[in-house]
Amino acid sequence: MPTLLHLDSSPLESSITRELTREFVKTWQNSHPDGTVIYRDLAANQPKPVDTQWIYSAYTPESSRTPEQKATLAPSDELIAELEHADEYVIGVAMHNFSIPSVLKLWIDQIARSGRTFVYAESGPQGLLHGKRATVLTATGGIYDAGTPASALNFIDPYLKAVLGFIGVTNVKFVTAGGAAQVMTGVVDREAFLKPTLEAVRTAAA
Ligand SMILES: Cc1cc2nc3c(=O)[nH]c(=O)nc-3n(C[C@H](O)[C@H](O)[C@H](O)COP(=O)(O)O)c2cc1C
Repeated sequence: MPTLLHLDSSPLESSITRELTREFVKTWQNSHPDGTVIYRDLAANQPKPVDTQWIYSAYTPESSRTPEQKATLAPSDELIAELEHADEYVIGVAMHNFSIPSVLKLWIDQIARSGRTFVYAESGPQGLLHGKRATVLTATGGIYDAGTPASALNFIDPYLKAVLGFIGVTNVKFVTAGGAAQVMTGVVDREAFLKPTLEAVRTAAA
């Protein structure tokens, strides 16, 4: 049974990326009627930042962990289990200060775990998630199209490509709604603005 992991990270109810991920899920469910969707609203349920206790626990061999260390890692175990179980991921990413929302970074810090999602082999780091597909749905206030000078300020795509690749997820597609500020200021109608992006989202999800 195919499984989709759906992550949202925008704090806004009227969020554009939430609308994009909803459309992706709707299309995916139509083409996978027997599929299951796991939903994580990272803004509503924020992962904890990694702290000293977390780091010591993660780097203590599993067989030697104390019950307290196991409890510290339990939320990370749960998030990693979702990544392992799902066949594909859709991630809604609002651009915040040229990069990803902080709640998504908290999630990444919980799931990037030595021995669980990556290992350092003799040849260098190796991701442990195999055969997964990810679609990243982004909204940005400005426009950062590839090939323009502004694209150098988009740290979302290169960062997520790097970090997902690090854990083994190399099949990553990005769909971006660029120029959302024009919707916020009322210059452009939201429906008209989103029409081509929603179309691209449906194509990506099918
Ligand atoms: C805290 C914050 C920081 C933002 N930083 C940027 C930015 O650096 N560059 C940009 O183009 N837009 C920026 N924006 C605009 C958002 O990327 C834009 O509103 C987008 O629609 C957010 O996605 P959402 O609608 O799903 O929340 C920012 C918005 C917020 C709320």
